[in-house]
Amino acid sequence: MNDTLKLIQSHRSIRSYTDQAVSAAMLDEIIRAAWRGPTSMNAQEISLVVVRDAAKRARIAEIAGGQAWIAQAPVFITLVIDFHKTCLGVGKAGQTQIIQESMEGFGVAAVDAGITLANLMTAARSQGLGIVPIGGIRRNPQAMIDLLELPPLTFPLVGLCLGHIAVDAPQKPRMDIRTFCHFERYDASSYAAAIDAYDETIMAYWQQLGRSDGITWSQNLGNSLKQVYFPEVKPVAAKQGLLNDK
Ligand SMILES: Cc1cc2nc3c(=O)[nH]c(=O)nc-3n(C[C@H](O)[C@H](O)[C@H](O)COP(=O)(O)O)c2cc1C
Repeated sequence: MNDTLKLIQSHRSIRSYTDQAVSAAMLDEIIRAAWRGPTSMNAQEISLVVVRDAAKRARIAEIAGGQAWIAQAPVFITLVIDFHKTCLGVGKAGQTQIIQESMEGFGVAAVDAGITLANLMTAARSQGLGIVPIGGIRRNPQAMIDLLELPPLTFPLVGLCLGHIAVDAPQKPRMDIRTFCHFERYDASSYAAAIDAYDETIMAYWQQLGRSDGITWSQNLGNSLKQVYFPEVKPVAAKQGLLNDK
């Protein structure tokens, strides 16, 4: 296996960081790696806001529901859907931008943000840093908008903690790969059995870690997905002009 594959296949989220700063040179390389990623129609509608200020990180930790690792990791990067930037180009071309009012707009930005996030993670990990993505900022997107001074037509979609690792984490097991990848046609026939097996695997994983609060994958999803767990996303996105009604 080559080094790139080894790096990607050894992914794990890290939630324990030292207070050692991430050097400016390291951070610059990471940002450039993400900057070079593809975007749909070359729209480049994802912008990053890098936060190193400790007080701001503490505030983000609070916004995300009390996630201590956000305050601990020396760098927090917010990936922002930035239809403000594209609007300037569209206006220059004498047109009126409406893509931000569509499901296509939100979807395409989420895909491009995902690519950006993956590149940030791989670049950071290639330098020996630890990372954990943070969707928890969508718990209170308005607070993130205020903190980062985001203009209309933008939305803080996801964040990323990065820093030097204090306590490494074991890899979390995944469900059978046949539930992930299908060839030639979609086939869900193995799902039920694979979910049963995975629920057992996850419980064994929690036991191995001494986590008595561990619950199965199914229970965890049941708790989370029975509701719109971040109900502020729709109204705050709409207020920002991302209406999602076309
Ligand atoms: C988009 C996204 C958002 C996430 N949000 C959070 C978060 O807010 N807090 C957190 O601790 N982990 C978060 N995670 C990490 C997941 O919990 C983690 O990836 C998952 O449990 C699998 O574990 P692993 O990354 O160690 O393999 C997020 C992951 C992704 C991809």
